[in-house]
Amino acid sequence: MTLYEPPDSGTDTPAQVDARDALLFSLGEAVITEISSRELLRRVVDVLKESLAADRGTIYVFDEQRNELRSVAAHLPELKSIRVPIGQGVAGYVARHRKLVNVDSASADQRFWPKVDETTGYVTRCMIAAPVEHRDGTLLGVVQLLNKRAGTFTNEDERTLTLLAAQLAQLLEQSTITTALKRSDLPELTTSGQPLTRRLEPPPDIDVEGGFNHIVGAGAQMQSVFHSIRRVAPTQASVLITGDSGTGKGRVARALHHNSVRAQATFVQIDCAALPEGLVEAELFGVERRGMDGEQQVKPGRVEQANHGTLLLDEVADIPLSAQGKLLGLLQHHTFTRMGGTTPIASNIRIIATTNRDLPTLVQEGLFRKDLYYRLRVVQIEVPPLRKRGIRDLRLLVDHFLGIAARRHRRAPPRIHPEAMRGLVNYAWPGNVRELENCIESAVILADDVIFAHALPLPRGVGSGAAQADDDQQVELFEQQPTLNELEGRYIGFLLSQHKSNRTTIAAVLGIGRNTLLRKIRLHGLE
Ligand SMILES: Nc1ncnc2c1ncn2[C@@H]1O[C@H](COP(=O)(O)OP(=O)(O)OP(=O)(O)O)[C@@H](O)[C@H]1O
Ligand SMILES: [Mg+2]
Repeated sequence: MTLYEPPDSGTDTPAQVDARDALLFSLGEAVITEISSRELLRRVVDVLKESLAADRGTIYVFDEQRNELRSVAAHLPELKSIRVPIGQGVAGYVARHRKLVNVDSASADQRFWPKVDETTGYVTRCMIAAPVEHRDGTLLGVVQLLNKRAGTFTNEDERTLTLLAAQLAQLLEQSTITTALKRSDLPELTTSGQPLTRRLEPPPDIDVEGGFNHIVGAGAQMQSVFHSIRRVAPTQASVLITGDSGTGKGRVARALHHNSVRAQATFVQIDCAALPEGLVEAELFGVERRGMDGEQQVKPGRVEQANHGTLLLDEVADIPLSAQGKLLGLLQHHTFTRMGGTTPIASNIRIIATTNRDLPTLVQEGLFRKDLYYRLRVVQIEVPPLRKRGIRDLRLLVDHFLGIAARRHRRAPPRIHPEAMRGLVNYAWPGNVRELENCIESAVILADDVIFAHALPLPRGVGSGAAQADDDQQVELFEQQPTLNELEGRYIGFLLSQHKSNRTTIAAVLGIGRNTLLRKIRLHGLE
């Protein structure tokens, strides 16, 4: 199993390449051993310290809400965590000015903030610090190293740190730590701007675990999906993600990419169902032709764009047979030719495919190549429908989408009336998580501070306990696709056993008169 591929080393020195490989390796290792984000960053800070032969290192993340840096991993036995206002100290200066700072003599540098040393008793001689920035330029944090073991930090150290800060940015982008910092319900820590003193209580740890790469799900069904992602992501295996529309297949695909060693390379997606049949091949493999002047004209396809990264083939069942052969060739030989071209081009990509259709049946019908099917589903991950995930997951998703919608529409998250919650729990969610997401967003827009049942855009009278997936019998009930009439009979039978045949209670639950209920009981032969 290949765990990671070192990127092209270009003109970097062997020491820089070693340092970068060590960082990449700790990422690969972290994914395999399923360690937490915090533990991963602790390892990274060790790697940074060793790479630059420094005595101590600190990784700060930027807390946007408080406009300050907070240490999340550090060689700092004296304190649990440090908070540095933007602009204060060398790290704060680096955060504000977004440039690397190399300080030969800390005591002689005006930017140096001596309070931390005063608190810890440590003596900082020299230091180097670099900003950690997202590709789009947003500040993620600062990385800082103290006291070069011999002498001061060199120009080469500056280049190495710049390189490592870029790697660290990739890591932080995936880390749940930065997400946790953006949450508004973080516990109050030390007071910004106040000098640190030993009297201050150590700040509590940030909860960095939460969901898995922003995929919400706590029940056994989703935990099993997360487990598969963790196992499969670091490998190069092709993955087929199956599941109904709106279950989160796209999310799972991204999680696979972000937890793989290809995470720093591109993730390219192609929706095979959205393209006219004749265009799929050109879009995937690109086109080349000779122009009138004999010049070769090339339009690269998605496979080429995804080189070194991951290619997601969405709704792979819609790839026409003609292009399926070429895709099989790519999977087998790692080469392809552009349309109109004859020269094979080498390709280093990982392929992930999704479908909500029944591929084995399509294979039987001769519409999908069997050999391609097997090549694609080296590993298969089935994403369960929402109604099978249990009430706890439903509630978590509701809270999650309430938060998102409230932020998007700049209002406080409304409460959900218990009656409305019952409606959500009882609905079968044929459109799965996407339908729930839209439903909550619409309710947030329409509701004031409480979402009542009538504000939910759900069809009337559909609630029949379908989302009570913890109860497998309920799920089976729907899988058999009963008619409404059959369902009515079964539901009334269920209520008779639940309420010890108390017809008045049952009529109240059903919202019908007692006589109507008696008639229905007779009709369904339930006396
Ligand atoms: N477990 C989850 N936690 C949070 N958001 C989720 C989860 N699952 C799905 N979503 C959100 O629900 C929506 C639908 O998910 P996604 O597009 O991944 O589904 P899909 O299975 O790929 O659908 P389709 O078959 O239509 O392509 C997206 O907005 C996604 O972000
Ligand atoms: Mg999708």
